[in-house]
Amino acid sequence: MATTTREVTPTTKPAGAAFDVARIRRDFPILKAKVHGKPLVYFDNAATAQKPRQVIEAEQQFYLSLCSNVHRGVHWLSENATQAYEEARAKAQHFLNAAESREIIFVRGTTEAINLVAGTYGRKNVQAGDEVVISAMEHHSNIVPWQMLCEEKGAKLRVAPINDRGELLLEEFEKLLGPRTKLVAVTHVSNVLGTINPVRQIIEMAHRQSIPVLLDGAQAAVHVKVDVCALDCDFYTVSGHKLYGPTGIGLLYGKAKLLEAMPPYHGGGDMISSVSFEKTLYNVIPCKFEAGTPNIAGTLGLGAAIDYLDALGLENAARYEHQLLMYATDALSRIPGLRIVGTAKEKASVISFVMDGLHPHDVGTVLDQEGIAVRTGHHCAQPLMDRFGVPATTRASLVFYNTFEEIDVLVKGLHKVREILG
Ligand code: ALA
Repeated sequence: MATTTREVTPTTKPAGAAFDVARIRRDFPILKAKVHGKPLVYFDNAATAQKPRQVIEAEQQFYLSLCSNVHRGVHWLSENATQAYEEARAKAQHFLNAAESREIIFVRGTTEAINLVAGTYGRKNVQAGDEVVISAMEHHSNIVPWQMLCEEKGAKLRVAPINDRGELLLEEFEKLLGPRTKLVAVTHVSNVLGTINPVRQIIEMAHRQSIPVLLDGAQAAVHVKVDVCALDCDFYTVSGHKLYGPTGIGLLYGKAKLLEAMPPYHGGGDMISSVSFEKTLYNVIPCKFEAGTPNIAGTLGLGAAIDYLDALGLENAARYEHQLLMYATDALSRIPGLRIVGTAKEKASVISFVMDGLHPHDVGTVLDQEGIAVRTGHHCAQPLMDRFGVPATTRASLVFYNTFEEIDVLVKGLHKVREILG
């Protein structure tokens, strides 16, 4: 997790940890499930996190008692749905510490958020010969939209390298910045390696040359307290479903002055102030970027997820997750022939690994028979797999409702993998 403190010696479980995991787990109905007759051990949180009852109920409550459209009706239901929708925006503003709620755009998730910025800010500001700088550890969602933009404009995508631990080489990154750089887009936390990037330094380096910075926060917002004002980032993206919220809802934060100067992304209802066949005038932000009926239920669910995290205390969760990371890293490192991919000093609780002579898909299939859910494959980061010379990894991503006992089950499962697959 997102802390550098080392409260636990790696080989020991903390005695009587203050963090009441048993109570927390009761909020997540699915965690009681059995898979293949075994208790579910859910370690695929970086793909999507499980949802607490509070989130499920908030979504359900919208359809049970508030179902109507937002920003479009004078009737009671619509006015109350609109109020709830805007309250969720205010919660998101508070969660990211944005200066104003109009700097929060509801989108489907990080993928849509990055495509929105590439398709509007990028299209307007990136021209032939310009450059966009990303890093070698990006998810496809933070590569492909920029590639598409660069192809369209005749611009160039530059990639900052990383070391063998999976850490960004800051000096090399800085060398890539120059008068042609129109945007830096990097991940805050790697979905494969768990690396927490030094985003403050990245932003300072870019801003010294007046280059705006987009941070892909899909993995980070789950583990790190994000403060967009303190970071001074220009854009920040969040996927609701990784943050214990529903699927199909996410956040794009953008500085108001940038959002105001950007052309709209999608055309349609709610993003206009007036339409005639001759000319359309666009709405103010955030509505300018929210064409069409939004995912209202999802928005309320995301608001409930933010409330849940506020009550839990993200920093408490982070401390506990760091203990899990330490324990799991130590336990996995002791398994013969297992190599962890991604050993950055600053790491969130994401552990990718490979086992000598075994394909990650086979590892994942045997673990599944033990009730353990991990992700196997390239994790939507094929260039990163190439960088580490592996076709795929197995990934266990841990969050605050996971336990030390579940890590023990994983370790046993991996010994079984070796027995069965050789
Ligand atoms: N981006 C998600 C992952 O890393 C889906 O698994």
